[in-house]
Amino acid sequence: MAVKLLSMKVNNTPTRTLRPAADIRALDIIDQTALPHDYRSLRLSTLDDAAHAIRSMQVRGAPLIGVTAAYGVALALADDSRDGALSAAIATLGATRPTAVNLHWALARMAAHLSPLTPGERADAAWLEAGVIAEEDVVQCRCIGEHGLALLRPLAEKYGRIEIMTHCNAGWLATVDYGTALAPIYAVFDSGLSIHVWVSETRPRNQGLLTAWELKQHGVPYTLITDNAAGLLLARGAVNAVIVGADRIAANGDVANKVGTYLKALAAHAAGVPFYVAAPRSSIDFACASGEQIPIEERCGDEVRVVHGLDASGNSGAIRQLPADQNVANPAFDITVAGLVTAIITERGSCPASVTGLRELYPEANDA
Ligand code: MRU
Repeated sequence: MAVKLLSMKVNNTPTRTLRPAADIRALDIIDQTALPHDYRSLRLSTLDDAAHAIRSMQVRGAPLIGVTAAYGVALALADDSRDGALSAAIATLGATRPTAVNLHWALARMAAHLSPLTPGERADAAWLEAGVIAEEDVVQCRCIGEHGLALLRPLAEKYGRIEIMTHCNAGWLATVDYGTALAPIYAVFDSGLSIHVWVSETRPRNQGLLTAWELKQHGVPYTLITDNAAGLLLARGAVNAVIVGADRIAANGDVANKVGTYLKALAAHAAGVPFYVAAPRSSIDFACASGEQIPIEERCGDEVRVVHGLDASGNSGAIRQLPADQNVANPAFDITVAGLVTAIITERGSCPASVTGLRELYPEANDA
């Protein structure tokens, strides 16, 4: 039975992570660096605004990065739509974050759409195409929710209440609406089945706090845990399924996702708990044979040395845990090998994490 997923809301108002401004060529985004303590929007008016928003993680999550990059191209062409400006915009945006392939997918699509046009046609066409990419993202996430529900419903019926674990934020904040890994969770909840979500905080950027924030806005019951508590919960049978998003899925089904995903997959495998990866077509890189070829972003060490939060007076600020010369490593993603993934859930349905599974869902990729 299909369920009508409700659009995501903030304070009961239907909301998207980004919207074109009403009267001018600009993009309004939710500033995710301020969440969960402060809910505010920001206006992106230039290519540099868009590149900075992606790099600084004001917008984040693979699908949303892709959509923002498409709008970034449109913002650049509003100033100068000649060939040189188009390729410079694509180069600037393409250099912002390396792991999420949605960024490169969106930029390649914009280039293919705009290059054959005359400069005079490009500015309007870019704005329209970015809008089409955004709307497609919404539809794809809604479909992922419905296909995920089909997998989770039997678990919910078997256990009475489904206990599900997620990592990072692959909710609507990481997309335009609905999310990828959280879309099935919202679909389970909206269809009246009982669900509880274990949310890992996801050091060092704490995207788990974003997941907690959006689950709370939607009324979905959840419990926040430290990243290191996941193994115990899985081993003790407290979790019926794990579901995460992806920044890039290689052709063989290996999955790059937020660092810490791999440890959860190992613990789920050891405990016999299904481990699902939910992602749209734009996250699958058929040109990448395996996870070994996926570039892993190394982010600034201060993300590890400095924590952000509210002080005793409720003012937001930063606290330095470690001196600036403390040696740290900060890989932002890891690779979960296909053998640990029970199924990949896409907008076309779910499939085994394998060359054959992905090719059967996307036969046209054979021609690419
Ligand atoms: O560094 P981030 O916050 O952009 O990383 C996000 C993730 O790893 C998500 O799990 C992934 O992008 C899927 S989002 C639908």
